[in-house]
Amino acid sequence: CKIRHYNFTVVLKNTTRLCATKPIVTVNKQFPGPTLYAREGDNVLVRVTNHVQYNVTIHWHGIRQLRTGWSDGPAYITQCPIQPGQNFLYNFTLTGQRGTLLWHAHISWLRSTMHGAIVILPKKGVPYPFPKPYKEKVIILGEWWKADTEAVVNQAMQTGLPPNISDAHTINGHAGPVSNCSSEGAYTLHVETGKTYLLRVVNAAVNDELFFKIAGHNLTVVEVDAAYTKPYKTDTLFLGPGQTTTSLLTADQGIGKYLIAISPFMDTIVAVDNLTAVGFLHYNHTLAFTPTTLTSIPPVNATSVTEVFCESLRSINSKEYPANVPLTIDHSLFFTIGVGINPCATCFNGSRAVAAINNVTFDMPTTALLQAHYYGISGVFTDDFPAKPLIPFNYTGAPPSSLQTMNGTRVYRLAYNSTVQLVIQGNSILAPESHPTHLHGFNFFVVGRGVGNFDPEKDPLKFNLADPVERNTISVPTAGWTAIRFRADNPGVWFFHCHLEVHTTWGLKMAFLVENGKGPNESLIPPPSDLPQC
Ligand code: C2O
Repeated sequence: CKIRHYNFTVVLKNTTRLCATKPIVTVNKQFPGPTLYAREGDNVLVRVTNHVQYNVTIHWHGIRQLRTGWSDGPAYITQCPIQPGQNFLYNFTLTGQRGTLLWHAHISWLRSTMHGAIVILPKKGVPYPFPKPYKEKVIILGEWWKADTEAVVNQAMQTGLPPNISDAHTINGHAGPVSNCSSEGAYTLHVETGKTYLLRVVNAAVNDELFFKIAGHNLTVVEVDAAYTKPYKTDTLFLGPGQTTTSLLTADQGIGKYLIAISPFMDTIVAVDNLTAVGFLHYNHTLAFTPTTLTSIPPVNATSVTEVFCESLRSINSKEYPANVPLTIDHSLFFTIGVGINPCATCFNGSRAVAAINNVTFDMPTTALLQAHYYGISGVFTDDFPAKPLIPFNYTGAPPSSLQTMNGTRVYRLAYNSTVQLVIQGNSILAPESHPTHLHGFNFFVVGRGVGNFDPEKDPLKFNLADPVERNTISVPTAGWTAIRFRADNPGVWFFHCHLEVHTTWGLKMAFLVENGKGPNESLIPPPSDLPQC
């Protein structure tokens, strides 16, 4: 195992997109940011130095951070922000994971421009559980705002109105010719006839779940969220923000130039940047004027495509890659999640959008929860997060007319190594929406999903406990539910939230507090000496 050193310098960079130039917050002047490469077992050290006027933190999305919660990155959950002029050394070891993940800023909406891929290769000498590709490519999907994204989110917080939607989607930073600013270029994947490529696709968008498609070609999914899957052949990928999908592409069409397209999914169109971004798959020896083959893009409300994709993924579950699904449950939790409207005296319309889990809208603390927990600082959080909704929930009856939320900085406490089953139910008060929900510090198994009300008697009988897919982010289906299981084997404080940033902003978030175990390697390590102070 090696030590990998990276320097991430946070700086402004003037960037031109959609025919206009604006300064954006970047890592190392790159957009998207640098790809972090390492092998399973490596120790990764990233020195983040802040040269902008904003507070920053970086989250290594999906990295387990076993006992190293100090390096997880969500602002005010595991750390105080790195202030202008300051730096912090993130220090973590890659354990039991290989594949593609992402890193991103985890404060305000800075992740719109501060994000990049993480590639975890298998240990030296360990092959992939699929045919060795000829080449590997990282493809990062994102969104672009003409306005400054910090201004967009501040407007939303101050007026209570939903923030502006993005002005374009991007593939490795480019919207492609659809933007009509053709000099800005398009992502192009150059391939050689007959060769197989490993595409590491990352959804780093802020607020949109996305479809990804290459005209005339199938993809074979082999890994999601840095956990291998049984091979799954499809013509369309579906990724919520924060999710990653690695698949094999065989360049089996001989010659030509084919469209690569991404487009958003939202089945009730509340507010979505409806634009498609395109790139090209280009065979070598193909002349530039070869016409592109058009691809059909799933419509924005293609719920059935998302269902087929989500239900087809399975973990490998072999001797080398076992699926250790918890079979007994210590904590059986039921979380309703959704967005609603609350009265707000100071807001534009006398009301504002709020989001909640179990009717609790999370208030961000001003001291990091992990520090408060470690040093026993009282008054920062309470550990009474409800195991089920405070207001009884029934989706098929009349849904409650408001979330009737209460505010609080509440955590749910778990003993070390206890097992959790969590059913996440969309409550659809404002509109039925799919929520890509992310748990920090763990991978979980997705044992079930369905539409309508979760039935606690019948639905568990259908759970897949043999080879459920293992992930860190899962799309809770529109007007439906998802059931996940995990083992609380990572002491610390772990954020759980919708990865649509607008919903996180509105309060769709909470945290789990996992206590130390009694064994020698079962406690959180002490905080690093350069941990930022609030
Ligand atoms: Cu990728 Cu808490 O986020």
